[in-house]
Amino acid sequence: MQIKDTGLRFSPITIVLHWLIAATVAIMVWLGLSAGQLEAGAAKAELIRLHSTLGTVLFVVASYRLWARLTSYHPLPVGSPNPIEVMISRSVAVALALAPVLLPLDGWLAMSAAGDVVWLPGGIALPAIVGPNAEVEYVAKLLHKIGAYAFLAGLALHIFGALKNHFVLRNDTLKRMLGKRVEL
Ligand code: HEM
Ligand code: HEM
Repeated sequence: MQIKDTGLRFSPITIVLHWLIAATVAIMVWLGLSAGQLEAGAAKAELIRLHSTLGTVLFVVASYRLWARLTSYHPLPVGSPNPIEVMISRSVAVALALAPVLLPLDGWLAMSAAGDVVWLPGGIALPAIVGPNAEVEYVAKLLHKIGAYAFLAGLALHIFGALKNHFVLRNDTLKRMLGKRVEL
């Protein structure tokens, strides 16, 4: 099986991880926004527990994906797109690969500073990075919010690009990310 991406195609691992990470990010955003709307209490704590535990799993998978992205060749674009669009879409894709690595680190900082425990799957407590500190908690939560909304803006652009390629330019960019073998 092709383990790494080449200049000609994505590896099956990239394709599976891309959609797995996309689905997990959707659940993370839903859990985060739902928690943000609740007043402090048991329901909010439970949502944050799910959000942070799933986020630690996402962190591991997304870190591997980021490393693979930075150490492999990237497949050539399908068709003959405008070079400026290629530069923008690739920069957005790298930012999207970086965000699920940085947001969990910041979430961990925010929860440590709030004196809350991040639980790993299996009920293991992740050690706190810092002791309780209201100022660090405020800044880390603010950065988390700004980062999450910036991430969503990049994602909207990314999805717009994928749909434009599929429905307007009518090329195989999206089908290639769904596993179709495309000859370049
Ligand atoms: C419905 C949601 C999504 C759609 C339709 C979509 C579509 C695509 C398509 C068509 C490509 C291939 C572009 C090319 O051929 O160069 C791609 C690549 C990529 N996408 Fe998405 N995407 C979605 C969600 C996400 C999410 C949530 C993330 C990040 C968390 C993400 C990160 C990436 C990255 C990093 C690449 C470059 C390939 C790689 O290195 O994995 N995408 N996406
Ligand atoms: C890709 C990963 C992540 C995404 C996309 C994400 C997204 C979000 C979003 C959209 C919110 C709501 C922001 C608001 O409007 O207030 C949020 C809140 C929050 N997230 Fe995350 N998050 C991620 C990872 C994590 C991780 C791993 C942790 C903890 C280790 C964490 C801890 C928190 C906390 C403590 C809040 C604040 C909840 C509140 O006090 O209202 N997040 N996150």
